Amino acid sequence: IRFSDIADLEHAKQAIKEAIIYPVKRPDLFPLGWPRGILLFGPPGCGKTMLAAAVANEVDGVFFSVDAASIMSKWLGEAEKKVKMLFEKARQAAKSGKPAIIFIDEIDALLGVHESEVGGEVRVRNQFLKEMDGLQDKSNKLHVYVIGATNKPWKLDEPFIRRFQKRIFIPPPDIRARVELFKLYTKSLKLAPDVDIEKLAEMTEGYSASDIKDIVVEAHLRTVRELFEQGGGEGEPRPITMQDFIEAIKARRPSITREMIEAYQRWYEQFRG
Ligand SMILES: Nc1ncnc2c1ncn2[C@@H]1O[C@H](COP(=O)(O)OP(=O)(O)OP(=O)(O)O)[C@@H](O)[C@H]1O
Ligand SMILES: [Mg+2]
Repeated sequence: IRFSDIADLEHAKQAIKEAIIYPVKRPDLFPLGWPRGILLFGPPGCGKTMLAAAVANEVDGVFFSVDAASIMSKWLGEAEKKVKMLFEKARQAAKSGKPAIIFIDEIDALLGVHESEVGGEVRVRNQFLKEMDGLQDKSNKLHVYVIGATNKPWKLDEPFIRRFQKRIFIPPPDIRARVELFKLYTKSLKLAPDVDIEKLAEMTEGYSASDIKDIVVEAHLRTVRELFEQGGGEGEPRPITMQDFIEAIKARRPSITREMIEAYQRWYEQFRG
């Protein structure tokens, strides 16, 4: 996937590109160093994982993608070793001159999956902080970047947050973004003339990008279901009508509440960057 497959989030796309491309092209313009850690945070289903996956196709680099939960292995010490190996591989790859980008999804899991395992998560966390400091070292000319994503930024502790100097909020889609999302996901579908995308966007305040995709899938499914139940599955389904969308919206609750947004805003007020 590419940035163009992702609706809206222009500020985030731009910020990610700049954070990696400028220093790679002109490290001499950054005598004080530059951020190696980029944190994407925001409510579920709004494009964090998608954005990070697209970076691999937008920036000419070597990409390492890991899920924090999978790093946290059952055995004490294993997880630490995995973190160490991951950074070692990235440093090796960066010697080619291309940036190496480590993407750690659900990064909050690094700090506390194994609460029962005494000291385990503390050691993984410390190993991670140590590796991040290695990247930040002024004498370090290698282009290794870490992109972390989380929908629970408040689970990260301060030393951890400090290593991610660039913090990018991935917000829920506003009305304009929702128009874009409906257009994006209905692009290949047949719509009846009564479908009013602006209206659909107005009706879906609080719905995540992922919810909107699901609504389109559900609206389309209604026509397919009808084709099977009434036409025996032969021929083509009828176009999707406004009513199909309205029923699909009614059947699904918005996954983002006002309280959630406020929690992200409060966190960002404290750790803006
Ligand atoms: N901005 C977007 N444009 C187009 N589709 C999107 C966008 N954001 C999310 N989606 C759709 O929703 C799905 C889930 O998005 P994604 O996995 O990126 O969410 P996330 O922010 O990582 O959520 P979580 O915090 O739960 O991990 C995507 O696979 C995609 O289908
Ligand atoms: Mg995700």
